[in-house]
Amino acid sequence: MIDLAGVGKSFGAGAARVRALEGVDLHVAAGEFIVVLGPSGSGKTTLLNLIGALDSASEGSIRVGGVDISRAGRRELFEFRRRTVSFVFQSFNIFPGLTAAENVQFGIDVAGRGGVDAGEVLESVGLAGREDSFPHQLSGGEQQRVAIARALATGNPVLLADEPTGELDFQTGVQILGLLESRAAEGRAVLVVTHNREISRAADRVVELSSGRIVSDGPPAGGRARTADLHW
Ligand SMILES: Nc1ncnc2c1ncn2[C@@H]1O[C@H](COP(=O)(O)OP(=O)(O)OP(=O)(O)O)[C@@H](O)[C@H]1O
Ligand SMILES: [Mg+2]
Repeated sequence: MIDLAGVGKSFGAGAARVRALEGVDLHVAAGEFIVVLGPSGSGKTTLLNLIGALDSASEGSIRVGGVDISRAGRRELFEFRRRTVSFVFQSFNIFPGLTAAENVQFGIDVAGRGGVDAGEVLESVGLAGREDSFPHQLSGGEQQRVAIARALATGNPVLLADEPTGELDFQTGVQILGLLESRAAEGRAVLVVTHNREISRAADRVVELSSGRIVSDGPPAGGRARTADLHW
């Protein structure tokens, strides 16, 4: 589902040049639940942005869901962003002028998925009864769950989540991870970025980044745990 070969990314030029990713090779199959682990500044968000075609690589090739992102034209990228990838952003990026349900409905409409009920998806993230709340009436963790509901509702085959549990208490975090994991079990490729090593215990594979390079890629040490058995 996701194939990166020799991917590098630089920001800026001259003395201000930052090397955010270097020589990244990554293959993710449909149905895999991947946790990307690494300290602040290690390139996690940059990696997700490249996979989701929100930014372009400086070197290397990226194929996602059969689309060669490095070569795709405008129209193909537009279709790719609508129907192939869904994002949960580190800073939520939900619309402040839309209610919780309208934010989720927006995701459904953009992806062109009929028959998905925004209220049901909000219920699945624990926000039953908050459909008509605007983001400013919701806590940080509730806003994050609206962002997660919007991404889940699209039904797209690649789900990219940047620190999706960062604002959540432990119990809600485990519930959300369970939802993300179930999307992988349905055959989607799910990538979750986090600083939280405990979360990586529930992954099929843990990809560790350090200074823009993948330093390890394999099943969690000690075997895979169930999300319900995580503690932090
Ligand atoms: N648009 C940009 N312009 C310049 N430098 C950038 C840009 N985006 C990221 N960087 C730099 O690239 C490096 C990797 O950043 P990135 O946001 O991918 O890290 P991260 O692992 O997601 O960190 P965090 O855990 O703090 O979110 C950092 O040194 C960052 O300053
Ligand atoms: Mg980040």
